[in-house]
Amino acid sequence: MTATKPRIGIYPGTFDPITKGHLHIIRRCSKLVDHLIVAVATNPNKKPMFKLADRVSMTETDIANMEEKGCQITVEPFESLLVEFARQKGAGVIFRGLRAVSDFEYEFQMTGMNARLAPEIETVFLMASDKWQFVSSSFLKEIARLGGDISPFVTPATQEKILEAVK
Ligand code: COA
Repeated sequence: MTATKPRIGIYPGTFDPITKGHLHIIRRCSKLVDHLIVAVATNPNKKPMFKLADRVSMTETDIANMEEKGCQITVEPFESLLVEFARQKGAGVIFRGLRAVSDFEYEFQMTGMNARLAPEIETVFLMASDKWQFVSSSFLKEIARLGGDISPFVTPATQEKILEAVK
């Protein structure tokens, strides 16, 4: 009998920082593959608030504290093209979360380009639940800078890091 190959999926993003919306998508992705790699992009274009190593460790902490994981989940940084990273890891699927209609245009273009570059890798979209539709990392950083309450949207560990960073 031949052993079946583990299904490997990638959930990429900047995660600057990771939110409860991301964690909800991660939990759902973890039910669909055997190994989920949460891939943290350098993304210098976005001028992140947190260094890559910090974004990785904050994401690791939140995932370690997450209840209900459907599969093995690892967190890895990447600096290359996403599809190259996915190939290196033997992943067959890239997951993306879709929130409002405004995400669609960008996601549509990115998926189209990735499909041209690596037709063997599928992109699968999960709709963000209504609770997390309007959450974005940029909004959270802005709310924190202006003294608003971000506790509904991030874990206590991440909240602490954001508050330290905006001090
Ligand atoms: N809940 C809450 N917020 C969510 C969310 C969810 N479920 N899904 C996305 N978001 C938010 C993020 O917080 C982020 O907000 P921000 O823009 O205010 O920071 C925004 O939606 C999108 O971010 P994210 O999902 O992290 O993706 P990204 O657009 O930052 O990352 C990469 C895009 C990393 C996948 C892309 O740049 C990439 O592939 N880079 C590698 C280089 C490459 O291959 N380029 C060629 C692409 S064709």
